[in-house]
Amino acid sequence: MKEINTVLVVGAGVMGHGFAQTFALNGLDVLLVDQSQELLERARTWIRQNLEFMVELDLIQSPEIEAALNRISYTSDLDGSAGKADYVLEAITEDLELKKSLFKLLGTTTGPDVVLATNTSSYDINELADVTQNPARVLGTHWFHPPPITPAVEIIPADATSPQTIDQAVALMERIGKFPTMCKSAPGFVANRIQFAMVAEALAIVEEGQASPQEVDRIVKSSFGFRLSAFGPFEIIDQAGLDTYRAIFDYLYDKLGAEQFKPPRILNDLIDQGRLGLKNEKGFYDHADGAAEALKRKRDSRLYARLKIFRNENSGGDHA
Ligand SMILES: NC(=O)c1ccc[n+]([C@@H]2O[C@H](COP(=O)([O-])OP(=O)(O)OC[C@H]3O[C@@H](n4cnc5c(N)ncnc54)[C@H](O)[C@@H]3O)[C@@H](O)[C@H]2O)c1
Repeated sequence: MKEINTVLVVGAGVMGHGFAQTFALNGLDVLLVDQSQELLERARTWIRQNLEFMVELDLIQSPEIEAALNRISYTSDLDGSAGKADYVLEAITEDLELKKSLFKLLGTTTGPDVVLATNTSSYDINELADVTQNPARVLGTHWFHPPPITPAVEIIPADATSPQTIDQAVALMERIGKFPTMCKSAPGFVANRIQFAMVAEALAIVEEGQASPQEVDRIVKSSFGFRLSAFGPFEIIDQAGLDTYRAIFDYLYDKLGAEQFKPPRILNDLIDQGRLGLKNEKGFYDHADGAAEALKRKRDSRLYARLKIFRNENSGGDHA
């Protein structure tokens, strides 16, 4: 596998400066490129501030600040930087035509075996691979804000992406402590499709006058949002019971009439097969041979740990 020492990050905005910080803290040299000198300076300030705060939080020692900062070069010279990169992560403005011209250029100015990753939130990765010389080295690696902290990276191949490209990207993400997961190039990928469905309902609830933004935030953070940091939706459905979920879907669909509440076929099929979740030791997952009891213990230990943090954060009159 190609050795990666120098990462080119294109775009030094909200995401790009965080990428540079993360790579540099993990010992990689970074070329941070932006078309705007002013935004490069802003990125330099933000990265220093972030690192200083990490020292305050006792996450790194102060000598690590200078070491990390010294690994980052700030420049608007994309052509001069491209040839020095072992790996590229694109984080420019979400504008398809801009990204296409960038990938077209990177296809000819970077080495032939250099991975070209995009952080696009929405575009089909094929659109970018198709305009790039040697599309086998193009893929999506979708990080989440704030990039130095949030673990997830969705790894999204285009049709032409080679297995070597995927392996390189996954290995690099693991090397810097990220939590990469494969997903298909489809609108919203996985996380944003789910997230935006939730946000649409939150906005509708406020629009209908059912609750204020503050009330929605408070309820979400202390209910399913609280659990979601420990378990995914399928683990949660198994814990609660598939039949209970279907009953709620039935009622919501009947009363609200919205398609998204129609009981999904996958839920009906599993219930028909007698899979009700943890309560009868089979649901989306198998919980036989002691796994149900082990999951309950895992659930309680994770949630009690989070409850302590939650109470600390929400004590003293801070009811947000
Ligand atoms: N902000 C988020 O929470 C978030 C989360 C996940 C993914 N993303 C995606 O990450 C990408 C970057 O988002 P952002 O929030 O950092 O945007 P941003 O607007 O903060 O930063 C974009 C930067 O790109 C620079 N730029 C634009 N065209 C350029 C070019 N041709 N060459 C060099 N620099 C150029 C701009 O000057 C700007 O500094 C987008 O594709 C976005 O959809 C954003």
